[in-house]
Amino acid sequence: MGTPRTYLPVLQATPVATLDGAIDGPPPTSLVDNFARRIRYLRISVTDRCNYRCSYCAPDDIAGDLAFAGRAEILSFEEIERLATVFARLGVRKLRLTGGEPTVRKGLVDLVGRLVRVPGIEQVVMTTNGHLLADLAGPLKAAGLAGVNISLDTLDPARFTTLTGGGDLVRVQAGLRAAVAAGLRVKTNAVALRGVNEAELLALCEYAWAHGAEPRFIEHMPMSGGMIYERAAELSSAAIRTALAEALGALVPVAGDRDAGPARTWMLAADPTRRVGVISAMTDHFCGDCNRLRLTAAGDLHACLGHDDALSLRDALRRGDSDERISHAIAAVVVGKREGHEFLAAAPGKHMISIGG
Ligand code: 5AD
Ligand code: SF4
Repeated sequence: MGTPRTYLPVLQATPVATLDGAIDGPPPTSLVDNFARRIRYLRISVTDRCNYRCSYCAPDDIAGDLAFAGRAEILSFEEIERLATVFARLGVRKLRLTGGEPTVRKGLVDLVGRLVRVPGIEQVVMTTNGHLLADLAGPLKAAGLAGVNISLDTLDPARFTTLTGGGDLVRVQAGLRAAVAAGLRVKTNAVALRGVNEAELLALCEYAWAHGAEPRFIEHMPMSGGMIYERAAELSSAAIRTALAEALGALVPVAGDRDAGPARTWMLAADPTRRVGVISAMTDHFCGDCNRLRLTAAGDLHACLGHDDALSLRDALRRGDSDERISHAIAAVVVGKREGHEFLAAAPGKHMISIGG
């Protein structure tokens, strides 16, 4: 495993803002930023807690720095539902529940049931470590969840436990099987790291395909002020594709797949049913067609994973702002959305575990 260390300057910390004062004009009806990107996808972190401690997400170095939000600080289901309604009126169509680990939030199935009924929301999905999924997959599917992305970085049980800070590969595999059996669309997420799982890229693909899932590889992103891996531990998406093509033959891009998220999907020329997603977070800027916003468990709205600026929608909710005023606040965040992350120049100080990937 790579040695955690700081290798990038940290962005200047930006305090979470609130939208105060008078607001002019009619409420917005859509969310388009200054770079003509239309926002249709909201990631909602439902808890900042997690039962795992993945080295790339919650490395040991930040353990003392993690101050988990108290119960009163995180948004209630009613508040999340109300915000989802406002976002949907502004054109958001897809919600992804994240964490921390979303399945550790009590009542998650109930929340999914509420969110799928929000007018305008077409799809609710979740990203999970899979540890609690074996029991939850059926109820989540019944509540209307469309799919899950399950973190699966290695198929070696001991390496898995080390990488996840105590995780249990067998449980996650049972969770994955339960999710597929329940009829959820399943993708696996592996953060590709040189010297950690680079020899397993093919095995991870074969495993996912054999179990009815689609494998995906993610370039490692430096968060927490860059205090994670050395740059040398990063594996580029080009290197990932080259390694896969050597083993599996040519990969061809799947046309028109960029709507929903940041992954670019490839299929085997020899077998178009075998697909693999690659997220080039670092080497091929994926910001140009970003359609996403992120809401933390405490109600801070972030326009970008790579910047720390945020606006508290919880403050707006709890001081009794109208839906119209909240719409203005959301539109203000969208207008302030940066052109892209600047991970190579300065890593955000915020932690991946709090923002949910
Ligand atoms: N770089 C890239 N992806 C990450 N994830 C977590 N931390 C990082 C990081 N530093 C991804 C994991 C997980 C999801 C929640 O976010 O793959 O599946
Ligand atoms: Fe928890 Fe997911 Fe982060 Fe791992 S990647 S520590 S499972 S939130």
